[in-house]
Amino acid sequence: MKHLLSIESLSASEIHEILALAKELKAKRGHDTAKPLAGECWGLLFAKSSTRTRVSFEVGIRELGGDSLFLSSSEIQLGRGEPIEDTARVLGRMIHGAVIRTFKQSDIEIFAKLSGIPTINALTDEEHPCQILADLLTIEELRGSLDGVEVAFIGDADCNMGRSWIWASARLGFGLRLACPELFTPPAELLARANAPVTITGDPEEAARGADILYTDVWVSMGKEDEAEYRTAQFAPYQINDRVLAAASPKAHVLHCLPAYRGKEITAEVFEAHANAIFQQAENRLHVQKAVMTLLKR
Ligand code: CP
Ligand code: NVA
Repeated sequence: MKHLLSIESLSASEIHEILALAKELKAKRGHDTAKPLAGECWGLLFAKSSTRTRVSFEVGIRELGGDSLFLSSSEIQLGRGEPIEDTARVLGRMIHGAVIRTFKQSDIEIFAKLSGIPTINALTDEEHPCQILADLLTIEELRGSLDGVEVAFIGDADCNMGRSWIWASARLGFGLRLACPELFTPPAELLARANAPVTITGDPEEAARGADILYTDVWVSMGKEDEAEYRTAQFAPYQINDRVLAAASPKAHVLHCLPAYRGKEITAEVFEAHANAIFQQAENRLHVQKAVMTLLKR
């Protein structure tokens, strides 16, 4: 693996390798002598806000023996119109790896190609691979295995998280149900390309029926703030609440990539009842990302 640009570009065995190493690194945290990033400085180029991704990468890079530089797009020339092509060719001569959060998937692909350094997608409008890897690790921990799991994603199925679930289901073969308004159905072209075992419905209870995992994400993703009012109205019936949870398997877990908006995509009651799993999921960002960076150096 040279880069982590998407789940689409990974194989099932690469995903399992990341998850296995993440478990090992999680167990060894605090007494691991391997420092695969020793002597390196990685750049975090962020064009959108972040709590989990930024902190887990900064801490993870340090734990792997490296240093990091946080480069907000608003503070570097990229934010004033310097092309990504030039930014990539400059930074590729100075830093040893890049973690990029931005809008266009093509920007991280261009960066990876022209910089020549390991590049990680820390969220684009298309995918959020680091998050889905943490989600998969959490499900393995909660259930013992991903085999036979049925996941119901309720809400904005066409956002980066919904799309990442589609690719995870395509690569690993688990069942995925998407519940979303018709206008927020992922594009037919993407569904055909992924060819995943996905069902799509407009009814959240139907999607939840017997599911092992209920998953949601914000209704207004970063960059969509202008559509907030419209989206809030469209997604109102797609909340994870007691009624939707009652349709799921009695042992179902509720996961959320965070940040969470209580009273919108999830009720405060359901969120708090499943907070342990949700924050375990957040912690797992650190472990999977350390695994990814370690594998990029092998
Ligand atoms: N889930 C996630 O990526 O969180 P941040 O936006 O805080 O990084
Ligand atoms: N879909 C959300 C994910 C946040 C981690 C967004 O893009 O804002």
